[in-house]
Amino acid sequence: MSSVLTSEVMPQTVDFLPLHGTDYVEFYVGNAKQAAHFYKTAFGFQSLAYAGPETGVMDKVSYVIRQNKLTFVLTTPLKTNNAIADHIYKHGDGVKVLALMVDDATDAWKQTTSRGAKTYLEPKELSDNNGKVVLSGIHTYGDTVHLFVERKNYNGIFMPGFKKWESEYNPASTGLLYVDHCVGNVGWNQMNVWVKFYEEVMGFKNILSFDDKDISTEYSALMSKVMSNGNGYVKFPINEPAEGKKKSQVEEFLDFYNGEGVQHVAIATLDIVETVTQLKERGVEFLKIPSSYYETVLDRVGKIDEDLQPLQDLGILIDRDDEGYLLQIFSKPLEDRPTLFFEIIQRKGAKSFGKGNFKALFEALEREQELRGNL
Ligand code: FE2
Repeated sequence: MSSVLTSEVMPQTVDFLPLHGTDYVEFYVGNAKQAAHFYKTAFGFQSLAYAGPETGVMDKVSYVIRQNKLTFVLTTPLKTNNAIADHIYKHGDGVKVLALMVDDATDAWKQTTSRGAKTYLEPKELSDNNGKVVLSGIHTYGDTVHLFVERKNYNGIFMPGFKKWESEYNPASTGLLYVDHCVGNVGWNQMNVWVKFYEEVMGFKNILSFDDKDISTEYSALMSKVMSNGNGYVKFPINEPAEGKKKSQVEEFLDFYNGEGVQHVAIATLDIVETVTQLKERGVEFLKIPSSYYETVLDRVGKIDEDLQPLQDLGILIDRDDEGYLLQIFSKPLEDRPTLFFEIIQRKGAKSFGKGNFKALFEALEREQELRGNL
């Protein structure tokens, strides 16, 4: 009779921080009204909810926009001398909150703070006629925070304090689905500090690593480790700059963001050609990839379902790993500072992050960096 592995010999590891995915991403911006219009117009988000003086919030305004399972909150302060205004003064527009869906926000706070996380928000219950939401929060790299959102007892539009945002302007979706991963840029020698934080404080695992030999071009270099929670719904790659002949793109980010922060949010689609065609028609700008990339790409990645020409016309990159392939493209920065950008990604089996594209991609990034005089 064959032996059976029992829990005695293979102890089941208990995930002390079960996460159901990204609840929302909150941006602190200088003008949330205009930012909401931009994300609706250019990216196809729909109006969802609003909070501000009309709902009893006197010091800030937040617009909530949604596309499929992707929710953004755009927040702007109404006055100076407060944490939001200071954040914008220091960093420009950027990501403040990576909010994560949990069953129990109080327990998530206890589990993480007992393992060394610094409290951003003690567990707080918000309620209205539609039920209650419990929020708690911890600090991560830079001024970025994680909020734990428990909404199992809430059936309102977003959360207490918000009203439905009715708009007569409703541009069509571009097929963006959900957050695939969010990348943080941290300072020199800080990558392993934050890897340890995600391992010890949040129970994440390091699923992939790239050193400066994988990710370097003639000029700039970086190192990266990908952290994932137990079920793989939440993935946070962490980059740090590496020494190269010239300034690393991560260093440029750190200079202009004035510290560590979210470098890019990767958004999934099921049809990248259609999504990127739509985004380009609406004015979203992407990094340009040299045509030479497409002369050899199929030798590297093998057969793919898509025709190559539309991918080349749009500048979509292709990479393969043991489990399949992926298609990806990177936007130019979303604000004037060369800081936050988006990645659009379509996975066809591959669970990796496009290592084979790094060289072509970084050469494209460096051309942009050079035009800004920051190389
Ligand atoms: Fe990415």
